[in-house]
Amino acid sequence: MKKWSLSLVLVSLLILAACNTNETPDTSEEAPIESLSEMEALLNTLTLEEKVGQMMQPERSGITLEEVTEYNIGSILNAGGSHPNNNHLASFDEWYQMIESFQEAASASSSTIPLVYGIDAVHGNNNVYGATIFPHNINLGMIQDGSIIEDVAAATGREMRALGMHLNFSPAVSVAEDIRWGRTYESMSQDVDIVTSGMTHYLNGIMPYAIPTVKHFVGDGGTYLGIDQGNSILDEAAIRDRHLPPYEAAIELDVPVIMASYHSIRGVKLHGHEYWLKTVLKGELGFQGVLLSDYNAINQLEGDFKTQLTTAINAGVDMLMQPFNWKDAYYLIIEAVEDGDILEARIDDAVLRILTMKETAGLFETPLPALDTSQMYSADHQAVALEAARASMVLLENSDALPLVDPTIYLSGPAADHVGLMAGGWTTFWQGNPDPDIGVGTSIQDGLDAYGDLTDSYADADTVIIAFSELSYAEGAGDTMTPTLTGGLAHPDNADGLALAERAQADGKTVIALLVSGRPLVLGSATDHFDALVAMFLPGSEGGEAIASLLYGTHDFTGKLSYYWPETIIDLDIESMRDNYRYPLGYGLTLTDE
Ligand code: GLC
Repeated sequence: MKKWSLSLVLVSLLILAACNTNETPDTSEEAPIESLSEMEALLNTLTLEEKVGQMMQPERSGITLEEVTEYNIGSILNAGGSHPNNNHLASFDEWYQMIESFQEAASASSSTIPLVYGIDAVHGNNNVYGATIFPHNINLGMIQDGSIIEDVAAATGREMRALGMHLNFSPAVSVAEDIRWGRTYESMSQDVDIVTSGMTHYLNGIMPYAIPTVKHFVGDGGTYLGIDQGNSILDEAAIRDRHLPPYEAAIELDVPVIMASYHSIRGVKLHGHEYWLKTVLKGELGFQGVLLSDYNAINQLEGDFKTQLTTAINAGVDMLMQPFNWKDAYYLIIEAVEDGDILEARIDDAVLRILTMKETAGLFETPLPALDTSQMYSADHQAVALEAARASMVLLENSDALPLVDPTIYLSGPAADHVGLMAGGWTTFWQGNPDPDIGVGTSIQDGLDAYGDLTDSYADADTVIIAFSELSYAEGAGDTMTPTLTGGLAHPDNADGLALAERAQADGKTVIALLVSGRPLVLGSATDHFDALVAMFLPGSEGGEAIASLLYGTHDFTGKLSYYWPETIIDLDIESMRDNYRYPLGYGLTLTDE
């Protein structure tokens, strides 16, 4: 790998300057070269083609190594569910070898600038089979001790760096106003202060190890009816009040990357919204980092591709997540600059942001961190995941049923022995891993089994534990107008679980309900049949051991709701839910509460 040094760049600049005139260059008019930053000096050596290449972020399966070299590609996207050799069981070594080959291809380009490898490690390095799967953001929002969020983020960063990865498309700082939104679980809370606090802890944790992305700017959780990529009808004051604070705090922390949102504000797509991207984010808030577009989001703008690109880049987009049509984008952008539709000064601004992000992350010194498989699902990281899972579960009902005392337990329900459901979306695959065994973790059955009180005989049991669940989903696939225990994306076996609860109650047994879900669910009269109810949300790989320790009382509940829990499926927008809920935001029992 060529080593970049200021002297090399400066010498080439001086030669360049001397070659351009007959006499000694009079640089009195221009900024003296020594006042240029190293990255400005590097930028000045690049051709337009090399600059535009740095703005591209194709998907790993959408480009060849030769093209990475030929086009000076600045970044690679690893999309959700995309794996080396299209093998989801790929080893850590195969992950590393793939990234190493991309980095070597970049070093062979005319600019030799290292590329940044980006991935959605939204609850651990979750595409990688065998990585620790931490609780999702909704769980992090329930945690009262922010240092646990910091530990989760740090461990996530370590399990990325260990495989040579640099850029995390996380944390989402969405404030999910309406739980009908399929990305509710990617939001820490309906309360912007909880989101801002959680984001701060997350950035402090991950930034020593990986480049975070705060997303999706701005107000992605505030669309009408929670429709993913939908339209927000909020006025500017509400957006500034309920959705902007996490970005203001992130910019104070020098967040390196912000991702724009798919959705629209009053009919205008964010990816082409000059006011929010340029005037507010880069102007008023002074964001100096890289504004990254979302997956093909530019193609949702009006006009032909060249028009879409021109609109987005002139609005402020710096790096383009165009997974498969990146080559068309590359040539169209160059054409737009040559036509004067995009000023080269705008390209220079975008590329300087990109180069500065890479320099700050140390990519020029260490483009490829050393492989370190000891980090992957390490004992320390398992302990962090266990602590986070425990701290994020919320006890909602307890009529002298918990803690368990010398029980004989009959366990049932779709999530009873299924780590995949506890992990949820963005696990191995984009929409989640349908397998009960995802290669790591302990199921609820595993966790309870360790205490030795399980029985296969319903008749012999004095306690029935039913693990209800939602199916796993991600993004728009999770949108539903009926977020209930048996409707929407509820697991089809929940109905049987409800019937069992009624039967067990009639037979005089203690009924404990556990809920694995990406959001609060409307429960109706179901709770009439429960002696205890625990909201587990999406606790990740260590959820089984975590819930068992709480049910037996070796650890107490500390989780508090970061969402209002809905009473009906009519009043689900935040305005209605403030006055019409089953359990309020901030609610959560301990084992000693009556
Ligand atoms: C998705 C999501 C975004 C994610 C990106 C890359 O569509 O909107 O959150 O980071 O694509 O996977």
